[in-house]
Amino acid sequence: MKLLWGLSALLLCLYRADALTDPLIVSSPIEVNNQTSAILSCNLTNPPSTVKGHYWMRNGNVIESSKQDSTALYTEYILAKIDFHSGGVYDCVFLSDPVVKKSIEVKTAVHVSAYKRSEHGNEQDKGVLVCVSHGYPLPTDWKWYKLEGEEMLKKAITNGTDRYEIKSTPNRTTLTINDLDIAMDMGDYMCYGVTEVGSAFDKIHLRVRSRLAALWPFLGIVAEVIILVSIIFIYEKRRKPDEINDDEDSGSAPLKSNAATNHKDVRQRNSN
Ligand SMILES: *[C@@H]1O[C@H](CO)[C@@H](O)[C@H](O)[C@H]1NC(C)=O
Ligand SMILES: *[C@@H]1O[C@H](CO)[C@@H](O)[C@H](O)[C@H]1NC(C)=O
Ligand SMILES: *[C@@H]1O[C@H](CO)[C@@H](O)[C@H](O)[C@H]1NC(C)=O
Ligand SMILES: *[C@@H]1O[C@H](CO)[C@@H](O)[C@H](O)[C@H]1NC(C)=O
Repeated sequence: MKLLWGLSALLLCLYRADALTDPLIVSSPIEVNNQTSAILSCNLTNPPSTVKGHYWMRNGNVIESSKQDSTALYTEYILAKIDFHSGGVYDCVFLSDPVVKKSIEVKTAVHVSAYKRSEHGNEQDKGVLVCVSHGYPLPTDWKWYKLEGEEMLKKAITNGTDRYEIKSTPNRTTLTINDLDIAMDMGDYMCYGVTEVGSAFDKIHLRVRSRLAALWPFLGIVAEVIILVSIIFIYEKRRKPDEINDDEDSGSAPLKSNAATNHKDVRQRNSN
């Protein structure tokens, strides 16, 4: 019995000693939330072996400029300006054997933008509106609104109702409107992304063209052809009675002389 107690006490001691010498990285801050700048730092205690260097990673990619051949157990990385481009998961990595690292999440305000500010569709076709987002974290929730009236009142659009279909992933949302109607669907829409750090939106203008408008160029050509054919037809019809007067020149000669006398009259009037 005593032996058993002794053995477990020894095991516990060994375990505790092991825990005490486990490598430990303390980061500062633990997380960056909605800040405009930050200094990320890591402090390693109990390295598993000598440290040959350290560097930082962002979203799994090595930041080359942060690489340092140094035995130091401390490293820092300065984020002078944080915006949606610089958010993500940052890791400090110490080159010991084995390698040890720790993550710091840098959370930023989300950025939402319309894929195209202005979209158009034909009546009875479908309209497709797309918004994309950047930043970390990406939206956990997307909403679409139609902006109505002079005051641009927001009217929520529900997926699966009234010809609407919404498909969303964290970095992209798509609103499809089936069977477009000029009176009902033309106007401004708003996509709205929500993250734990905040929210952002953008607007898209949807133009709906009538089916007839899509036909205009074709109708134009048809009209041109009809007019052309009519002109030729009328011209031909008017030529026929002249040809019956078996002499073509006799028809035009009096016209010429008429014109000449008219000219004389004009000249005389002018000289007076
Ligand atoms: C790193 O951590 C050790 C132990 O916790 C502490 O004594 C030391 O001051 C820290 N160094 C830095 C640069 O934070
Ligand atoms: C909208 O409904 C469709 C079909 O019912 C579904 O596939 C899609 O995932 C839904 N979108 C959202 C954002 O819930
Ligand atoms: C959106 O996320 C998917 C995977 O979730 C990725 O394949 C795609 O490249 C991302 N698109 C953009 C524009 O970031
Ligand atoms: C994030 O910071 C901005 C200003 O820097 C502030 O207006 C906004 O309310 C903050 N958002 C959250 C969710 O703290």
